[in-house]
Amino acid sequence: MSGSGQRKRIAYIDHAVDIGGAENSLVELISRLDQSRFTAVLLHTVGAKWLDRPELSDIEKIAVFQPISLLEKRRNEVAARRWPLIWNALTTMRPAWLLNRALRRAKIDLVHTNSLKAHFIGGLAARLAHRPLVWHVRDLLGEDEGLGLLRRAARMLQPHVIAISQAVARQFTGLPVEVAVIPNGIPLDKFTPGPAPPKLHAELGLAPYDQVVAVVGRLTPWKGHMNLLEAVSMLTESCPSLKVVVVGEVAFWEPEYEQQLKQRASQLGLDERVVWAGFRSDVADILRLCDVFVLPSVNEPFGRAIIEAMAVGRAVVATASGGVPEIVVDGETGLLVPAEDPHALAQAMAALLADPQKAQQMGEKGRARACKHFSADRVAKQVQEVYAHRLGT
Ligand code: UDP
Ligand code: GLC
Repeated sequence: MSGSGQRKRIAYIDHAVDIGGAENSLVELISRLDQSRFTAVLLHTVGAKWLDRPELSDIEKIAVFQPISLLEKRRNEVAARRWPLIWNALTTMRPAWLLNRALRRAKIDLVHTNSLKAHFIGGLAARLAHRPLVWHVRDLLGEDEGLGLLRRAARMLQPHVIAISQAVARQFTGLPVEVAVIPNGIPLDKFTPGPAPPKLHAELGLAPYDQVVAVVGRLTPWKGHMNLLEAVSMLTESCPSLKVVVVGEVAFWEPEYEQQLKQRASQLGLDERVVWAGFRSDVADILRLCDVFVLPSVNEPFGRAIIEAMAVGRAVVATASGGVPEIVVDGETGLLVPAEDPHALAQAMAALLADPQKAQQMGEKGRARACKHFSADRVAKQVQEVYAHRLGT
């Protein structure tokens, strides 16, 4: 079955167009594969934005998914609600059949799916092609968001599940599938403590004496930016030089959300305090520039941005929900607050901004914790152990 000698060919299937933590993690995994044992083949969506990463330049790529427009996406959602059975069959079976042919043609030995849609379509294709299947699960689903469907699919497709946190793994409790918890990692050589480039303050419209809080993440409701805005509005008197740098862009299917956030900021009188930085490729530098990092998500499956901030040596304020408490040690590397509680968020931010020494100590402990537990090298090693186990090599 194998293509070249003893090397096993791994198909990575990801349907995303935009760049998120899932795609960053996948690129880092692929670039760390032991090439004497494994060869990566990437099956992706036409025009996906993350494919031009230099680490992927020599990787074999096969376009299998078509990007969809906002209109199509909304029509699909309506159809899926009206005729769920017919719709699921139509949207899964045909692409799965085509993907199965692509897997056979590319002489794939094992299928690794990296996104929700890929778990279903890629999973079915792997079964049709009789290839071992690994699901890299990075989502936390509510009952009304397809958790039941995911569990039924797991029962049927029998993947080896890699969960990015214990919280994600719990979604599979009671199912007869193997689950390995492999927490995310990051390239620790890119996220190091140090000064931000001298021009960055000015570029972002910040004064050297500003107290800076940064948030890094897609502008999507569950990341909790609205709560952060409310929290900041409570600190205008006690922290007069507070500025918030919001890093990240809106996903294509929620174009109106960015406007809603900006309107809310204006209503709260925060126009001078919030810097809408958009998508940035210099996240490490922005983290170096900030005093405190905040991630106010509701049910974050993991949150790579948190370990990036820890690795740079920043204290973190985040929510005690999803996988976050597995990363941030409350009171030691940061402060955890209940999700959707702007008061608690404001208090935690104020506490750290008022005590820079404490924030610095927490940042140092965060850096040590990130180096010990959250390296991309460790992830690659553990994932390859899963492959070896599934392939019996
Ligand atoms: N990111 C980036 N530029 C941005 C916003 C985010 O490079 O403007 C990166 C960020 O550094 C992190 C990833 O995107 O590596 C987001 O991953 P995370 O797990 O925090 O959130 P997700 O978007 O996957 O839910
Ligand atoms: C997903 C999750 C995020 C996680 C990332 C990388 O996008 O939303 O919490 O860190 O995947 O696994």
